[in-house]
Amino acid sequence: MPRSSEAGPLARTRRGMTPRWKLFGTALAAPVLVIACLPGMKGVPKNPAVEAEETRLGYDARTDAHAAELLREGREIFRYDSFGSEDFWGGQLRLHEAILGAEQGGVGPGLTPKQALQLGLKVDAGQLPEILARAIDEGSVSLDEPETTVALLRAHSVVGVKAVTRDGEVIGVGITCALCHSTVDDSITAGIGARLDGWPNRDLDVGQVVALAPSLKPFSELLGVSEDQVRQVLRSWGPGRYDAELNQDGKATRPDGKSAATVLPAAFGLAGVNLHTYTGWGSVSHWNAYVANTQMHGKGTFFDPRLDDPERFPLAARAGHGNIRNTPDLISSKLAALHYYQLSIPAPKPPEDSFDAAAAARGKAVFEGKGQCATCHVPPLFVEPGWPMHTPEELGIDDFQADRSPDRRYRTTPLAGLFTRQKGGFYHDGRFPTYEAVVDHYDGHRRLRLTTEEKRDLVEFLKSL
Ligand code: HEC
Ligand code: HEC
Repeated sequence: MPRSSEAGPLARTRRGMTPRWKLFGTALAAPVLVIACLPGMKGVPKNPAVEAEETRLGYDARTDAHAAELLREGREIFRYDSFGSEDFWGGQLRLHEAILGAEQGGVGPGLTPKQALQLGLKVDAGQLPEILARAIDEGSVSLDEPETTVALLRAHSVVGVKAVTRDGEVIGVGITCALCHSTVDDSITAGIGARLDGWPNRDLDVGQVVALAPSLKPFSELLGVSEDQVRQVLRSWGPGRYDAELNQDGKATRPDGKSAATVLPAAFGLAGVNLHTYTGWGSVSHWNAYVANTQMHGKGTFFDPRLDDPERFPLAARAGHGNIRNTPDLISSKLAALHYYQLSIPAPKPPEDSFDAAAAARGKAVFEGKGQCATCHVPPLFVEPGWPMHTPEELGIDDFQADRSPDRRYRTTPLAGLFTRQKGGFYHDGRFPTYEAVVDHYDGHRRLRLTTEEKRDLVEFLKSL
């Protein structure tokens, strides 16, 4: 269907080729045509071409409506659905009690908004009640009182944290996908602004947030260590990091003694990409079911017999994470829309003044030529169409994280929107703190012999993605 006005009937009127009365006549004819096509109107001949066109339009319109609905639903789920995880975070860990503080019926001093922002939690300004937004803007509300945190939670404005309330009282807390995979644009102040879904929250100290919980019993029982030891592990992760395999294999540290957590990845620009996570566990919908059931502790169904291996995934095998069934299932019916939404989020473009455009254009040639980057990071997806998996030897890095995954390999990371991942470093564990460090690594490992200029141009190209 031509959409532009140039091709449409109005364009013709503008040019004076179709008199107004004729258009009016067409408008009158339309209902007549519809009536003529109504089923059961015997004896009125149908124009098969018109009928075919209507069937086609009806079919396409249904697909369009379905797409729009999935997108809308998926966005809601990504932002606000806790999949029943409040039974875990609120019920078992009692995390909300630490947020409330003793004065509001919880335990300890409570969590002030200032502290919450320091831990990297974000506030969605769009969800703030007008009065609270103005008070924050004017500085007339205290960011040093846990009461304010509770007001923010009640307004569902703390990104990724879903409060359960009864008669206005916060009685529990669950988490949503947005916790780790969204941030805000800081438009009001640092940590408060408009939501940016899909951006990894590299400020968020997930471990410290979880470590606030009065009880860590479910973790200590599964891992077979004390709650204090669990707290130590959680505190070792640091901002922008999380370990999505710890409760399967129990490996809290790498052989070099450093934390086994990975940096939070982007959840945008994923359409067209076959495998997900740094080690390619599966498709987006595989991983969503994995995370919702085994990490967020929501209630659903998850099947992945690769986890039944007692050698590689002793904790998963013992706890039965390879075959989870819950009734009611609060996850499976949401996976389609959730999948669709993630595939719909485009990778953001970096600000134009954040890189040197001329150097980036030269860097593109290095990326596609002498640097050999495009052999794996195939533009415009920046990942191989197919099975984009590589051995640690190919990459010139250790096998620790690869070995914690079914295929013992690393997946080529799609590079679009790379600038959102500068903080916390590049590669699965953030081992390369700068663009320069990544380029130097490839230059050495793959014997590229890039000149200083070529390296600089390549870096500018990476910044432009
Ligand atoms: C507690 C933090 C956290 C939460 C909550 C979380 N994720 Fe993740 N997510 C991660 C980490 C860490 C990884 C990388 C895991 C790895 O590579 O082993 C990841 C990986 C992903 C990936 C793979 C991206 C890629 O291609 O590399 C997708 C997609 C994703 N998460 C979507 C979701 C969705 C949808 C939800 C909600 C159902 C969710 N995540 C909840 C931390 C989180
Ligand atoms: C053999 C395939 C291959 C080649 C060639 C390759 N890469 Fe990669 N790249 C990968 C894989 C796999 C990863 C993920 C590694 C990890 O997370 O540990 C990756 C990760 C990256 C990252 C980090 C992304 C992030 O979000 O952490 C950057 C940046 C990058 N590559 C740039 C380049 C550049 C520049 C070149 C050329 C000089 C290049 N790559 C060549 C496979 C390749």
